[in-house]
This record gives sequence, C-alpha cells and structure tokens, in this order.
Amino acid sequence: MSVLANAFVTNPLHLRAFGAQRLDRNRLFFRIGLRHMFIGQAFVAMADGAVCGYVHFIVSPYCLPAPEEVPVAAATLLKPLGDALPQVVKWLSRWCRLDPEEPHVHLGPIGVTPQVQGQGLGTALMQRYLEYLEQEHAPGYLETDRLEAVEFYKKFGFVIQREEVLIGTPVWYMWRSDQS
Ligand SMILES: CC(C)(COP(=O)(O)OP(=O)(O)OC[C@H]1O[C@@H](n2cnc3c(N)ncnc32)[C@H](O)[C@@H]1OP(=O)(O)O)[C@@H](O)C(=O)NCCC(=O)NCCS
Repeated sequence: MSVLANAFVTNPLHLRAFGAQRLDRNRLFFRIGLRHMFIGQAFVAMADGAVCGYVHFIVSPYCLPAPEEVPVAAATLLKPLGDALPQVVKWLSRWCRLDPEEPHVHLGPIGVTPQVQGQGLGTALMQRYLEYLEQEHAPGYLETDRLEAVEFYKKFGFVIQREEVLIGTPVWYMWRSDQS
C-alpha cells in the first residue's frame, strides 16, 4: 500500500481526485484496491530486503466491474474516500466503460518507490507481465495518466489506442497485440 501510494501520489489523476500531497487519501485508495479490486496475479520487487515495487495484472472480463456496478461500489467500498468520491466515480466509470470487449490481460497498477525509480525495477516487473502474456498468447491493455509512462510502455510493445481528457487530465489507453 505504501509503495503504491508513494509511487502514484503525484500522478495527474490522483492529484485531480485526491489533491496535492494527499498521501493519506492515496493510501486509503490503494488499501481498498489491494483488499477488493486487485484480484489475480501480483508480484513485488525487492531491493535491500524491502518491497519497492508492485505490479498487478488480471485476465478480462474480471479486470474491471461493469460500469453499472461503480455507483454500488461508491456507496459501499469507496465511501471512505469522502469528497474525492465524485471524481473517482467519473474516473473509474469511464475506465470500466472503455474496457475492451476483446479478451486481454489488463495491467495495473504498476508502481515503484520514487527514490528507486530508474534502476530497472519497473522493467523487471513488466517482464513478469510479458512472460504471462506470452505464455497465454494474450494481448495486453492498460490505462495511464503519465506521458513518461507512455514512453516506458512503448518499449514493451504497447501502442496508443485512445487518448482523451478525463477529470481535467490527459489519459492514454494502450494495447499490445499478442506477439507469439
Ligand atoms: C513507470 C514506473 C513503474 C517505472 O518504474 P522504474 O523502476 O522507474 O522503471 P525502470 O527503471 O525499469 O525504467 C525506467 C525507464 O522508464 C522511464 N520512466 C518512466 N517514468 C519514469 C519515472 N517516473 N522515473 C524514472 N524513469 C521513468 C525512464 O525514461 C526509463 O527509461 P530508460 O530505461 O530508457 O532510461 C515508475 O516510474 C512509477 O512507479 N511511476 C509512477 C506510477 C506510474 O505512473 N505508474 C505507471 C502508470 S499506470
């Protein structure tokens, strides 16, 4: 939870929904996610005996709830997010609506502790995901709100499928065809 909160606290969607330096709200968001949303496979990256990175992926259609389930989650699971809730509901509803019909393995979240970014941990976590895609002969799909991350994902064979502004910030939707 701490790794993800620290990695994402400055991401544009998180700034919009939770505010600047709202580590507390990011921790809460990821606590809910880790308990209830990020089912399926997850791996962590270790450095000097500490967890410094996390990646989660899951096969569709279990990756995201149906759009009509989001208001139910808002009234229950996500309720502790308080006044961030309207923005989070818009954000998640949109991602649920755009989730591709075509079978895929959905990536996210992936995050590395800011102090150790740029040292290869993110690449190591991506390799686990790519191994799974190759083993399953499956395409990959993800959403991101960081332009630097778009470049990162392109290195692993992802291409931009759609780009739009969501709750006031650019978002990219990316696809990786089965390469086997
Ligand atoms: C994206 C992320 C997981 C990459 O992890 P990482 O451990 O820094 O990745 P690596 O060290 O393996 O690779 C870094 C490469 O990604 C690029 N990169 C993307 N975002 C970066 C960042 N915030 N810091 C450093 N490098 C970043 C660098 O250009 C670098 O490229 P190079 O290998 O050609 O120099 C990490 O930057 C992160 O947690 N970001 C915040 C959360 C996020 O945006 N997650 C993904 C969006 S859903």
